[in-house]
Amino acid sequence: MNLHFLSYRIILLSFFVLLEGVVSARHGRVLTDPCDLDIRHNGLYISSDQITVLMNGFSEYRIPLLLSIASSYTFSPLVSSMIILWGNPLTPSPLLSQLSRNLSLISDSIHLIRQPSSSLNSRFLPRPDLIKTRAVLVCDDDVEVDSKSLEFALRIWASNQDSLVGFFARSHDLDLSTKEWIYTVHPDRYSIVLTKIMILKTEYLFKYSCGGPLLMEMRRVVDEMQNCEDILMNFVVADEVNAGPILIGSEKLRDYGDSRNEEKNDSFREVGLSSRKGDHRKMRGFCIREFHRILKRMPLRYSHGKVIDSVGEQGLCKKGGKLVHCDDFLLG
Ligand SMILES: *[C@@H]1O[C@H](CO)[C@@H](O)[C@H](O)[C@H]1NC(C)=O
Ligand SMILES: *[C@@H]1O[C@H](CO)[C@@H](O)[C@H](O)[C@H]1NC(C)=O
Repeated sequence: MNLHFLSYRIILLSFFVLLEGVVSARHGRVLTDPCDLDIRHNGLYISSDQITVLMNGFSEYRIPLLLSIASSYTFSPLVSSMIILWGNPLTPSPLLSQLSRNLSLISDSIHLIRQPSSSLNSRFLPRPDLIKTRAVLVCDDDVEVDSKSLEFALRIWASNQDSLVGFFARSHDLDLSTKEWIYTVHPDRYSIVLTKIMILKTEYLFKYSCGGPLLMEMRRVVDEMQNCEDILMNFVVADEVNAGPILIGSEKLRDYGDSRNEEKNDSFREVGLSSRKGDHRKMRGFCIREFHRILKRMPLRYSHGKVIDSVGEQGLCKKGGKLVHCDDFLLG
């Protein structure tokens, strides 16, 4: 049993004609069936050394931050274009038009798309008319990665093109007392990378969005929970490669949504779609159990360790008021 089934083109087609009357703020266009195999193979991916950035935007408060993150992405030679998926249905249209104008001043390769529904699944729509790269960077509007780490992550992805490459890791686990799958954090291993920022091959967007009956049922869980789209993507990929994701070590990664951030500003971090804390972990455990129930097996696999971009020095120790290599210290 495997996740790629018949693609439910007809059902999806009517679904997208109804829901996805996509109005890219500057490019009024109606999307055709995103799972259409012809589009998929005609518009063959042009670029394999660049990525498309797929960023979720939600918070009006965070627009200044979004603009700054968007400009650093688009100035990167690694980024071919950027799609900002606006997921907040309450944002007034004039504000979005203004944002779109501001974005177009930064670059004409940024597309702002108001999500037609609150479904988190639409985050992973393949959008073959816009995505022309072999890989995409999926990220939130509150995480900033420096260009060196981005370049490194893309290099790691390029030599592991079937894997998910991310910067934030979590785990599934079996709670032995209740014999239930749970969502947790292990200090020494991980099986899930978060969509706060991850790189994956564009092909997986098709697998996620166009997969048949089981995946359709799993996508329904995402809609019901309004959560867990990232966990489902981890299921899809782990099922494909029978291996865990790859975690990149970066010291410069800035997560404005992290509650440990110095700027403790509630309006900054409580507005994200999936930031309702408290029950968050329980909900995600529930999703893992549901996905497992539907699939009748557990595809998630553990990985160990982080990939870092330099061997670096082995550490400095203080000796006689001076810093020396600890190895020398031990020898000396
Ligand atoms: C757009 O840019 C103008 C000028 O910098 C700024 O005043 C306004 O707040 C911005 N609005 C949005 C939605 O980005
Ligand atoms: C948090 O940020 C918002 C938006 O920038 C601002 O209006 C608000 O005053 C800030 N609150 C605190 C406690 O700093």
